[in-house]
Amino acid sequence: MPDQPSGPADKPRGPELFTWEFATDPYPAYAWLRENSPVHRTTLPSGVDAWLVTRYADARQALADQRLSKNPAHHDEPAHAKGKTGIPGERKAELMTHLLNIDPPDHTRLRRLVSKAFTPRRVAEFAPRVQELTDALIDAILDKQGAEGGGAGKGEADLIHEFAFPLPIYAICDLLGVPREDQDDFRDWAGMMIRHQGGPRGGVARSVKKMRGYLVQLIHRKRLEPGDDLISGLIRASDHGEHLTANEAAAMAFILLFAGFETTVNLIGNGMYALLTHSEQRQRLQQALAEGDTGLLETGVEELLRFDGPVELATWRFATQELTIGGQEIGVGDPVLVVLAAADRDPERFERPDTLDLSRTDNTHLGYGHGIHYCLGAPLARLEGQTALATLLRRLPDLQLAADPADLRWRGGLIMRGLRTLPVEFTTA
Ligand code: HEM
Repeated sequence: MPDQPSGPADKPRGPELFTWEFATDPYPAYAWLRENSPVHRTTLPSGVDAWLVTRYADARQALADQRLSKNPAHHDEPAHAKGKTGIPGERKAELMTHLLNIDPPDHTRLRRLVSKAFTPRRVAEFAPRVQELTDALIDAILDKQGAEGGGAGKGEADLIHEFAFPLPIYAICDLLGVPREDQDDFRDWAGMMIRHQGGPRGGVARSVKKMRGYLVQLIHRKRLEPGDDLISGLIRASDHGEHLTANEAAAMAFILLFAGFETTVNLIGNGMYALLTHSEQRQRLQQALAEGDTGLLETGVEELLRFDGPVELATWRFATQELTIGGQEIGVGDPVLVVLAAADRDPERFERPDTLDLSRTDNTHLGYGHGIHYCLGAPLARLEGQTALATLLRRLPDLQLAADPADLRWRGGLIMRGLRTLPVEFTTA
C-alpha cells in the first residue's frame, strides 16, 4: 500500500511500484499517484529512470504531443547502458523500424500505406472466420472434457491457454495469409515470446529470428504469387507511386502480429475475468445477448478496455525538447510512459471510475491510445473481443471462475497487463 507522507515539508515518497502486489492490483497505487504525484519520476525494474503520467487530461495531451518522440535514438540513457534497457528499437534489428518506433514524416508515410491494405472493410469481411475460429476452440475445449471425463458433467479449462492465447494468433496469421499448416509454428514462437517476457532473452530472440525469417520468405512468395490476403495487400499498396520496401513490409507484418497478439489475449482474459467477478453485469450481458441485443456487448467491450485494459502503459516516448506535463518539467531525452490504466480510472474524467458498468456510453477511454499512434488494429480487436466474449457466454452459459482471485497470477511485463492463467469450470451438456 502507498506510504504516507512523512511530513508536510517532505515530498511524499509514493507507493512501491512493480512489486508482486502491484502486478496483481495496480489501481490503488495509481489512485495515489494521480492524487499526489500525477507526473511521477520512477526507476523501472530495468534500471531506467522514467516519468509516469497518470491523470487522464495529461495522458491524452502527452499521447498527442509531437515533442515526445517514439524514436529510441532520443533517449538520454548514457551510451554504456544502451542496448541493456529492453527499450524496443535499441536492438538494431530491421524488424524494429516500425510504426511504434518512428515519428512523422516516416510514420505518416508508413501508416498511410498500411491503412490502404488493413481497411475496416477487410476486417468486417473477416467476421465469419473469427466466429469459426472461436467456435473451433470452444469445440476443442468441450471435446477434451468428453475424452477426459467421459461425457456429461463438469468441465474445466484454462481460458488463457486454450482460448484467449490461440484465437488472436490464428486470426492474425489468417488475415496476413500465413498458410494454415504453418500457423502452429507461429503459435509456438508467440508462446515463447509471451512466456519469457522479462526473463532470459535467448529463447525470445530465437523466436523473433525464426518469425522474421519466415515472414521475409512469405513476402517473397507473395510477391511472385499474390493473393487477397493482407501481406499481398501490403506489397500492392502504393501512395504517390511509393511502395513498402521488403524490409518495411516484413517489419509491418511483424508489428501487426506483435501489437495484435498479446493485447487481444489480454482483452479476452482480463475481460472474461472482470465478467466472472461481476456477476450482476455478466447476467445483464447474457440476458441482452439472449434477446438478440448486441448494444450492451459493444459498449461492454469498450468498458472492459477502460476498466482493466490490456495495455497498462503506452509504449515509450522520449522528450525531444524541454516541456511541461501537468506542471512538471520534463528534460530533453527523458523517457515518458503514459499510464493508460491510471488515466482510464481518473475520477476527473469518469463517473464512478472503479465501477464496471457495461452500459457506460460516455467512455472516451485511452485503451487504444490517442493521436497519430492510435491503435491501427482497433476494429479487429473489437471484432475478436466481441465475438470471443459473446460466444463463450452463449456456449458455456454457466462458466465460473475455478480459483480464488487472490491466487491468480498476472504476467509481470512492463507495458501489458494480463493473467497467466484463467481456470474456469462449467457444465457440459
Ligand atoms: C497501437 C492498444 C489490438 C495493431 C496501439 C496503441 C495502443 C494499442 C494503446 C498505441 C500505443 C502508443 O501510442 O504508445 C491495443 C489494444 C488492443 C490492440 C488494447 C486489443 C484489445 C491490436 C490489433 C492490431 C494492433 C489486433 C493489429 C492486428 C496496432 C498497431 C499500432 C497499435 C500497428 C501502432 C500504430 C501506430 O503507431 O501508428 N494499440 N491494440 N493492435 N496497435 Fe493496437
